Amino acid sequence: MIEQKIAQFSETINDCLAMLASDRDVPSLYEPIRYVLDGKGKRIRPVLLMLVCEALNGQVKFAVQAAIAIEVFHNFTLVHDDIMDNDAIRRCRDTVHKRWDESIAILAGDGMMALAYEELLKTKSPHLERLVREMTRSVRIVCEGQAMDKNLEESNHFSLSLYLEMVRRKTAELIRVSSVCGAIIADADELQIQSAAIYAENIGVAFQIMDDLLEVRSDANQMGKSLGSDLSAGKKTFPMIVLKNKMKKDEFEKIMRKNQSPEIALSQRRDIFRNLCVQYDVFTDGEMLIQKLTDEGLGKIINFPEAGRKILMDFATFVMERKK
Ligand code: IPE
Ligand code: IPE
Ligand code: MG
Ligand code: MG
Repeated sequence: MIEQKIAQFSETINDCLAMLASDRDVPSLYEPIRYVLDGKGKRIRPVLLMLVCEALNGQVKFAVQAAIAIEVFHNFTLVHDDIMDNDAIRRCRDTVHKRWDESIAILAGDGMMALAYEELLKTKSPHLERLVREMTRSVRIVCEGQAMDKNLEESNHFSLSLYLEMVRRKTAELIRVSSVCGAIIADADELQIQSAAIYAENIGVAFQIMDDLLEVRSDANQMGKSLGSDLSAGKKTFPMIVLKNKMKKDEFEKIMRKNQSPEIALSQRRDIFRNLCVQYDVFTDGEMLIQKLTDEGLGKIINFPEAGRKILMDFATFVMERKK
């Protein structure tokens, strides 16, 4: 049931994305944009926006443009994130800055930001101004999160609470605003909009923790993106936080140095790090926190219609069972 619904909404999104930049000139700008939008993303943000709208008895046809906008925003953050993280593979293909170059990738990202707004502004809703305000605020918050992520690379002062704050901004915020926009378009009341926000923010934080765990235990073919750059860059991911809290200080510092040592092959550094994560129960801790966040999120939507709540429960399970 949920799988069918997700497939149906994703198809709508993919069809619209294929048309978005189809007949424009200036190929050096639009070719990379078309390339990105054609990539095999999971589309969880636009799907969530549409699901929340439907869950609150709104008409999904009025949510499609906002859903496209959020996916295009997300794609823009990925293009720039891959420059920042110096990653070569995304969605099983070369990243834009590797296939073309950094200037092209920066510009493609900027162009996508504008395309996203153009799409959002087509939304037929008496709440359009609020939608624009919510999205704009969220894009700013994602930038804050990305800045925190970069700052933490160089820092030895990090904690679980700082990590959660960074993740709330860089990842959960776009997921939160997807849900909020779905609720606004459905003309939901303020309490329901608030519930939609907390539900999705919790799912969003859990989603990034899951991503950090997959970065360690999955493989690049399965995930379709470069893995291991977190280690080289000194990223403060969930496993890193747990290990810092559980290991003796000097042992942890030794591991941090090893993670970034160019003399050891990256695949070997990943193996060492994965074994350490097993030894210190990092995966179990991560799974427990993911479950806790998901349960808390689901607890917030008790003021949703029964059928809608069930769909959003199934969506949460679907997202957390992801393998890529
Ligand atoms: C990747 O997001 C960036 C993170 C927030 C972890 P997704 O995992 O949703 O990426 P796509 O859109 O499916 O490629
Ligand atoms: C996710 O960044 C957040 C954004 C893209 C804004 P990450 O760097 O953690 O995600 P991946 O691993 O590149 O997808
Ligand atoms: Mg990245
Ligand atoms: Mg990043």
